[in-house]
Amino acid sequence: MKIKEIFNLAIKMGMEADLRGKKEVERILERKRKKYERLSEKEKEEFDKEALENPYLDSRILNIAKDKEIKRVLVGIDIEPAEILLAKEIGHIDLIISHHPLGKALAHLHDVMEMQCDILNLYGVPINVAEGLMKERISEVARGVNRLNHQRTVDCAKILGFNLMCLHTVCDNLAAKFLKEKIEKENHLMRLEDLIELLKEIPEYKKAIELGLPGPKIFVGEKERRCGKIAITEITGGTEGSPKLYEKMAIAGIGTVIGMHISEEHKKEAEAAHINVVIAGHMSSDSLGVNLFLDELEKRGIEIIPCSGLIRVSRNK
Ligand SMILES: [Fe+2]
Repeated sequence: MKIKEIFNLAIKMGMEADLRGKKEVERILERKRKKYERLSEKEKEEFDKEALENPYLDSRILNIAKDKEIKRVLVGIDIEPAEILLAKEIGHIDLIISHHPLGKALAHLHDVMEMQCDILNLYGVPINVAEGLMKERISEVARGVNRLNHQRTVDCAKILGFNLMCLHTVCDNLAAKFLKEKIEKENHLMRLEDLIELLKEIPEYKKAIELGLPGPKIFVGEKERRCGKIAITEITGGTEGSPKLYEKMAIAGIGTVIGMHISEEHKKEAEAAHINVVIAGHMSSDSLGVNLFLDELEKRGIEIIPCSGLIRVSRNK
């Protein structure tokens, strides 16, 4: 496979797994194309044209040094200059894939957060409330990433001649769909302890515990408490949403939220709203989504070298 084919496969899989449904994602893209058409020539020049084809701007091809057939890939949760040097040391690495966004994709992290509004709406939170509360949080994230040194790792890849891409929300969508289906299949999930046991069956979480990393844990609630309606609202969509949403989620009938990580402020708000929070684990949840994609590359004969916190589990065997 060539770099662009790998990237297109990731976007396709991300769209198919999107909790909003592929049709809705296509409608959003179509709307962007129509908006683009109405822009002036000057505005068109400044417009990020990737947005016309790619609904996940935190996932991008960041450098094509050599457009060759990809046989060996170095994949990590965070790729920094150290991992680029590692690739040089290992040798014969055709492509480096980072899960967390880098370069232009990091600058656009906030762009994917709008999807959280639709996901919350699927669970019953009125769209106007979700959009109102998320608007503030999205601009906060945009300001937060503004100060970062986005190009550092990309520059390193360019200097050393490595192909580089990052696949963030596309992979998080795969994890979210996987978890949603697993949970919905089990209707015996009465109490939080049952939910924790179910999550611990997933190999990435099992391995995380073996490595002494944080496994699935109850952050808000107690193990004997009933789960109520379980929502997968915090696995995909960039980063944490607005802490003010928990109260609205409770009104919408959500009992338990599963997330990858949670800030103290979010935790306090969830407590106040009596929403149970189960934190599955960050690196392990990221690994789950990345693995589901890497399995497809592996099926196509590509060798995977995991690094930087990626807990590699293949479901091909
Ligand atoms: Fe992450």
